[in-house]
Amino acid sequence: MTRTILGIESSCDDTAAAVVRQDATGAHILSSVVFGQTGLHAAFGGVVPEIAARAHAEKVDLSVEQALSQAHVALRDCDAIAVTAGPGLIGGVLSGVMCAKGLSAATGLPLIGVNHLAGHALTPRLTDAVDFPYLMLLVSGGHCQFLIVHDNDRFERIGGTIDDAPGEAFDKTARLLGLPQPGGPAVEQAAMAGDPKRFALPRPLLDRADCDMSFSGLKTALLRARDSVIGPDQSLKAGDQADLAAGFQAAMTDVLQAKTARALDRYLALAPVAPVLAVAGGVAANLSIRAALTRLCEGRKVRFVAPPLALCTDNAAMIAYAALHRLESGDFDDLTLSARPRWPLDGAAPAMLGSGRKGAKA
Ligand code: KG4
Ligand code: ZN
Repeated sequence: MTRTILGIESSCDDTAAAVVRQDATGAHILSSVVFGQTGLHAAFGGVVPEIAARAHAEKVDLSVEQALSQAHVALRDCDAIAVTAGPGLIGGVLSGVMCAKGLSAATGLPLIGVNHLAGHALTPRLTDAVDFPYLMLLVSGGHCQFLIVHDNDRFERIGGTIDDAPGEAFDKTARLLGLPQPGGPAVEQAAMAGDPKRFALPRPLLDRADCDMSFSGLKTALLRARDSVIGPDQSLKAGDQADLAAGFQAAMTDVLQAKTARALDRYLALAPVAPVLAVAGGVAANLSIRAALTRLCEGRKVRFVAPPLALCTDNAAMIAYAALHRLESGDFDDLTLSARPRWPLDGAAPAMLGSGRKGAKA
């Protein structure tokens, strides 16, 4: 049986729509349209929620129109409308949810509210037909967690950051070093010419036997190291910039590698038949981090899966795909669907330090 889903994503700084079709041969992405907002936020050094919300509201209809036309699919040919209902910036999530509700009300098509993190976590099944259970490391600008993915709707969070996400740390590092945004690719590029050993930066929480991480201390240590070499006119020599970038990237890589090793211990104790470590999020593009994780997996006889970058970062194909099993079981939302800024995937996981009075964000 063929099923076609329109997906909509607007939880952070990408407005996206996609059409995914499942047939007897599997799930296929018929189109995936993403309007990024990097240029709109560049001057502010981070995503500005109000600017993001306005841009989503402006682009969401267009992204749907383009996704349908690129897929050569009419709205009436779809079987459901899937939309990210959280976690994320409330204004952005609302834009997507309102658009999806409008389309659902106008067409009578079922509405399915999807958790953004479930979209990331299920992507390796769409791209690489990975079997449950697998271990997922989600490392992006806003998220950092280890999940054991047991089923389409059962995610076990076994650790994550207690403060900054790795992408956020890369972006802040770039700012401290006078490099452009987004910081990850700029720091990676600068690090190529640097000596990772010159500045002794910390590897936080490695003394703790769990899978939790912390990156805010690393950022402070980098600031001190930078201030020890910065000129009176606040200028940084190219060599110092490269060594600082290399030192930061090496610390980040070491922490992610060591904590992934621990997460693998927990996961492999389940004795999965075909063990897999999958990554998602923009930071998974980093070659130093990828190489460290690949080596780790080789040593443990675990398959390493990194979906193509366009599907590792925010997109709507993952949202449409994550709704497929709910379309099959008839598990729909209705027009009372709310946008949820906080929506932990694993409600049973203990709240993280720094998650605030209202509990875990994600
Ligand atoms: O998944 P993503 O596109 O967006 C969300 O966070 O939702 O991730 C973006 C993050 C940014 O912080 C960016 O600096 C980081 O991923 N990033 C990288 C690299 N490419 C992107 N970090 C390290 N190395 C890279 N090559
Ligand atoms: Zn994301």
